[in-house]
Amino acid sequence: MKLKQIILATSLVFAGSAFAADVEVLHYWTSGGEAKSAAALKQIMKDEGYDWKDFAVAGGGGENAMTALKARVISGNSPTAAQIKGPSIQEWGQEGVLANIDEAAKAGQWDSVLPKVVSDVMRYKGHYVAVPVNVHRVNWIWANPQVLKKAGVDKMPTTWDEFFIAADKIKKSGAIAVAHGGQPWQDATVFESVALGVGGADFYNKAFVKLDQSALTSPTMVKVFDTLGKVKGYIDKDAAGRDWNLATAMVINGKAGMQFMGDWAKGEFAAAGKVPGKDYLCAAAPGTAKAYTFNIDSFAMFKQKDAEAQKGQVALANAIMSPKFQSIFNLNKGSIPVRSGVSRDKFDDCAIKSMDDLAAASKTGGLVPSFAHGMAVQSSTQGALVDVIAKFMNSDMSSKDAVTALAKAAKTR
Ligand code: GAL
Repeated sequence: MKLKQIILATSLVFAGSAFAADVEVLHYWTSGGEAKSAAALKQIMKDEGYDWKDFAVAGGGGENAMTALKARVISGNSPTAAQIKGPSIQEWGQEGVLANIDEAAKAGQWDSVLPKVVSDVMRYKGHYVAVPVNVHRVNWIWANPQVLKKAGVDKMPTTWDEFFIAADKIKKSGAIAVAHGGQPWQDATVFESVALGVGGADFYNKAFVKLDQSALTSPTMVKVFDTLGKVKGYIDKDAAGRDWNLATAMVINGKAGMQFMGDWAKGEFAAAGKVPGKDYLCAAAPGTAKAYTFNIDSFAMFKQKDAEAQKGQVALANAIMSPKFQSIFNLNKGSIPVRSGVSRDKFDDCAIKSMDDLAAASKTGGLVPSFAHGMAVQSSTQGALVDVIAKFMNSDMSSKDAVTALAKAAKTR
């Protein structure tokens, strides 16, 4: 073989393996705080010699991302990993497209550093196919202390009665009481906090985990919709279609007083340089102080033919589980580490509260999965429930009609 040919052949081999060592990662972290968090993972992978191919699909809650993912998998061109969570991991497992990452799990002793409730969700038929990133709490209320002060609200509301008194005062002071984005997943995010606050953890579990018809059609559920209907009265008329981070920005800049949102909102406050306790306040949503709605982000790995790509998956999984990443990522994201062995030192008061409340709620039965964020039921059922809630938010549907529709939607499989 002539030298020129050899060089050509070798460079082709190298070109091939360089391409194979790409990790293509589908995610929907595109807001300020989210992008900063995702950047930490990109950096770690780059430091390890992998080329990060960003497959970011904008849209809070990830609905757009899931549509994009389906199209790619169906066309036989799966990304290396995708942000998938909860029962959906099982749904993708059943399609036969997920990769076994037991090797990484064994080396990293995932069985001992992860809570069993989490590691169970990451496995399909006993084998690890996904890696968890964090724990988000959904049942939060965020507030701007200056807006509260100006309105004469001296503390964060802890009950729904207190909440409506505070909301009235904020409205009277000229600010928007509740910052919200009228998108179905955001409607469902508020709804599930209202349901938890009004009905308690047992009711929540019966209705949204067990899909128990008697809980779904109970007078408590009517009260939940009544309360949600009242909350609706404190949202501004321009909320339709607004992204969640823009709603958070309204609280940050003092246009609005409060927002119901998971603690990814804290990522926005942090990215804006705001300090908890001083520039913004966090508290459990009214009536939910002893409960904790969890939402665990994770990445599922998709089968790859190429050995280099498989190595990339193991490297990605190891990076995600490393205490270093768990710390940097979660500080930016507003969530808390999912694994043990990560120092609490750098975390702020809201994160420490999340850690303590999570530990307390897991002992008292107050720990519930977020159905709005894909943790509780299969995706088709979730979609049907969310549709009803969005319809209620965008029409003059009565609470009773909403209850009937919700109970029917819960039978969707
Ligand atoms: C959640 C997700 C969070 C955050 C949020 C807004 O479902 O778990 O990580 O990104 O949506 O997109």
